[in-house]
Amino acid sequence: MSDLQNDRPNFRAMQIHLNPKNIFWCCVIIGFVYLAFLIWGKDDKFPELAVEIRDVISYAVLAVEMGGHAVAKIYQENSLNIKSKGNTDVGKEELLTRADLVSNHLILGLLKRFPAMNVVTEEKNEHMSESEVEKYRDDNYDLWLNVRGALEKIPSQKYDFSRMSIWIDPLDATQEFTEGLLEYVTVMACVTLDGKPVFGAIYRPFYNETIFGLVNWGLMNSQGEKIALKSPDKVPKTIIVSRSHTGQVKDLADKVFNGTYTVEKAGGAGYKTLRLINGTAEFYIHTTAIKKWDLCAGDALIRAAGGELIDLDGQPLDYSPDSEVVNKKGLLMAIRNPYSVLSRIRNHMPPK
Ligand SMILES: *[C@@H]1O[C@H](CO)[C@@H](O)[C@H](O)[C@H]1NC(C)=O
Ligand SMILES: *[C@@H]1O[C@H](CO)[C@@H](O)[C@H](O)[C@H]1NC(C)=O
Ligand SMILES: *[C@@H]1O[C@H](CO)[C@@H](O)[C@H](O)[C@H]1NC(C)=O
Repeated sequence: MSDLQNDRPNFRAMQIHLNPKNIFWCCVIIGFVYLAFLIWGKDDKFPELAVEIRDVISYAVLAVEMGGHAVAKIYQENSLNIKSKGNTDVGKEELLTRADLVSNHLILGLLKRFPAMNVVTEEKNEHMSESEVEKYRDDNYDLWLNVRGALEKIPSQKYDFSRMSIWIDPLDATQEFTEGLLEYVTVMACVTLDGKPVFGAIYRPFYNETIFGLVNWGLMNSQGEKIALKSPDKVPKTIIVSRSHTGQVKDLADKVFNGTYTVEKAGGAGYKTLRLINGTAEFYIHTTAIKKWDLCAGDALIRAAGGELIDLDGQPLDYSPDSEVVNKKGLLMAIRNPYSVLSRIRNHMPPK
């Protein structure tokens, strides 16, 4: 009761009388604040620029095809210049060839068309001279027309640059490339929106095939034909795994599926995704660390197919530009039933 009484005088003291003088000063102050906003407020950040996602996609596809043509030419010339990048987290030597670098350079060059775009790539710190790269640059007009025609069917959507990123893998399966296992080699680009993959393109340079997928729309090849998924009963009970740690996943798969699945090893995350897409394998499982540029395009493709890529904690991967580039939680990729398989896997994983 006494509190209420004490409040009353304070409340009255806060009232401002609406006389012409006060209204005048109010207007002056508001005017100055507005002026200050006009002068300083807008310099704080770049104006937002919206971009048509179809334009970004067509450059991303052109970029992987041009990068991939360079990869194939360098292989034919036999001028790989293999170098070691040191060892990976799992103690495997990581290789780098001239083909990785030239492909990367050509891809980044094409994506410069979008200066405000954030591009995440494996070989960001490597520089090549323009003269060394020039002869691998295709006259891209035909390529461009081809891509444009195929992508015309994609619906129009505009987004701010600040929400998008492009993740690039200029040459996936470098190890297999140096061994001449060319079927595994791919070049990949992925467009993300708010850290989630929305578009992926995977090019196979030695087979001249591109598969692209737009989430909520579907999958298509470079002839512009939509890709239909195989019916589940026609998909063999095959789990596709990395060549480098097959044993570990095989033991796990034998426990989880009681020997009813075949475990097949293959190189390249891009290649393994394509095997799920064409229904020649059902699951892709990985239990050690893997970089996200190896996964982003495949993640977009599998989402476009109605499936999922999740880590072994059951979470989708985050591709925000400031996120950690290495995924250390393993992965499970599947077009159907990823979560029920994950819970079976988790029952057989060693406790953390
Ligand atoms: C690659 O495929 C595209 C269309 O799928 C075709 O137009 C082009 O000629 C092919 N290039 C080569 C080198 O075979
Ligand atoms: C696992 O497979 C073996 C041999 O095929 C079979 O005898 C056994 O009943 C299976 N176990 C389960 C839990 O399905
Ligand atoms: C499935 O895709 C892989 C990778 O692109 C390819 O090597 C294989 O030949 C394809 N198989 C079929 C039956 O389409």
